[in-house]
Amino acid sequence: MNALFTPEFPERDGGEIARGATLIRSWLTLDQQRWIVGQFRAWARGPVPIRAAKVRGHEMSVRTVCLGWHWQPYAYTREATDVNGARVLPFPDWMIRLGRDALRATGHDEAVARSYTPDTALVNFYDVTARLGMHQDKDEISRAPVVSLSIGDSCTFRFGNAESRGRPYTDLLLASGDLFVFGGPARLAYHGVTKVHADTAPEGCGLSRGRINITMRTTGLDG
Ligand code: SIN
Ligand code: MN
Repeated sequence: MNALFTPEFPERDGGEIARGATLIRSWLTLDQQRWIVGQFRAWARGPVPIRAAKVRGHEMSVRTVCLGWHWQPYAYTREATDVNGARVLPFPDWMIRLGRDALRATGHDEAVARSYTPDTALVNFYDVTARLGMHQDKDEISRAPVVSLSIGDSCTFRFGNAESRGRPYTDLLLASGDLFVFGGPARLAYHGVTKVHADTAPEGCGLSRGRINITMRTTGLDG
């Protein structure tokens, strides 16, 4: 039986997952994915090289490089004081435009989309053993939507509720090119990555193994 039809792989349909949270399958073309992977390779080299952030002294299995603002548990700064003290790369204009298109694609009003100005991106790399525990994205002052893009191997992404790490939650398969936006009542929902599915990256996405996820956020910080 094809692995895609075993219970290990959750639901593939897109649409509204919870109020304020929308999934769009294959939103990025393979050309766009490959181009973004090329950008990722450059970002990962520095000036702040990609690294595993430490949470209470333990390295996360996910490795992260940031744009605009540097994130470390649990604060944003311009300089990567937990890595090498260098200033992170600026947030690219093309990513703001992509973020606005992502809001349009997920049914946000044109005025909301046009004024969306994310100023940080956490770019995560997962090897096939990496996981991300259930957490809220709450280090931002702004509650503007988070735009998430996935490239490479698929993962099981657990999207829950704003009250606790537990049920109710929905397990989604996030595949290469998928767009997921969460805002409004879903903005503070707990979420995490429970599994990366090896050997599922499509030919031509630019990544032969592992998974890249970009989350664009608005910090609400000045300076
Ligand atoms: C995150 O929660 O910051 C990343 C989510 C993902 O990898 O899909
Ligand atoms: Mn998150």
